[in-house]
Amino acid sequence: MELDKRDVVTGRPTTGHEWNGIEELETPIPRVVFFFLGTAFVFSLICWMLYPTWPLIWTYTKGMLGTDQKQVVAVQVEDAALSRATWTSEIEKKSYAEIEADPALMRSVKETGHTLFGDNCAACHGVNATGGAGFPNLAAKAWLWGDGSPEALEETIRVGINSTNDDTRTSQMLAFGHDGMLPTDQIEAVVAYVRSLSSLEPAGDAKRIEAGKQVFAANCVACHGEDAKGKRDVGAPDLTDANWLYGSDAQSVFTTVYSGRQGHMPNWAARLSPLDIKILTVYVHTLEKKPQ
Ligand code: HEC
Ligand code: HEC
Repeated sequence: MELDKRDVVTGRPTTGHEWNGIEELETPIPRVVFFFLGTAFVFSLICWMLYPTWPLIWTYTKGMLGTDQKQVVAVQVEDAALSRATWTSEIEKKSYAEIEADPALMRSVKETGHTLFGDNCAACHGVNATGGAGFPNLAAKAWLWGDGSPEALEETIRVGINSTNDDTRTSQMLAFGHDGMLPTDQIEAVVAYVRSLSSLEPAGDAKRIEAGKQVFAANCVACHGEDAKGKRDVGAPDLTDANWLYGSDAQSVFTTVYSGRQGHMPNWAARLSPLDIKILTVYVHTLEKKPQ
């Protein structure tokens, strides 16, 4: 082994080791590596001093800055609650008319209402509240219950329809065929009459429609009214408009009259706070009108 030997090609010193004529160059670690190592060490030292770093048995080194993410989050949560409290307390205090007349408050209602609706109501009524078969379109403004006032809506949301609440609204479309109250031919006639009210039945069937009118007068007016425009104290829908809860084709209307219908709307008094129910009421009441 020859010390201080230099490689002939590069002129660099070699380590002196040699394997079958191949020699190893003496390549020192570049200084820049030491520089970065040193800087990183100094940097970590500074961090150890400033921030929480080392776990101890019962506690940890807290650092000179006293940084505590838990406290930061707690302050943020408090701030958020405070800014929410200012508008929610307005909602609690104000009447429906006052809330709806306040554009700033309505912005918060729309935002929070949309989220609440998405979380609790959209599964049945749809994301845009336009409903579907068996679930009413809340944006149609063709109400089954009450006058569509916020108070009536709030009552429905609170107690539900055919729900387990003691004060539930109760609605039932009787099963005229299934329960043997009407023979099939009379059901077919009354279906034709009901569909004729919204011009869905061909006018050629005048005799059948006339027969259906008799059946309607004898069996249906108690709930749907003489003019078939529905009765909102028993949840019986208007049969003359373009809104259909269970479908307007002859087969669907026949099924409705033959087998009856009983929609279930859960009651929310136990599951949502009075504040959330109030927000949802305003949200539903001020939905932009959308046809089915
Ligand atoms: C499990 C399904 C379901 C959920 C969830 C649901 N609803 Fe309903 N909702 C119904 C049904 C079904 C009806 C119609 C009942 C009937 O046929 O009379 C209804 C009726 C209503 C009515 C009465 C409409 C009218 O014309 O008078 C309102 C208002 C209403 N829902 C609001 C809500 C709100 C707000 C929520 C969320 C908090 C909600 N619903 C959640 C099924 C649901
Ligand atoms: C005891 C009261 C009552 C009587 C009597 C009654 N209905 Fe109904 N009807 C209702 C109620 C309540 C509903 C709504 C059911 C629901 O929302 O689940 C309804 C729903 C309907 C619907 C569905 C409307 C839609 O939008 O899909 C039709 C059609 C209908 N009734 C026709 C009749 C006919 C025809 C008769 C007479 C043969 C009759 N009803 C008698 C209470 C009644």
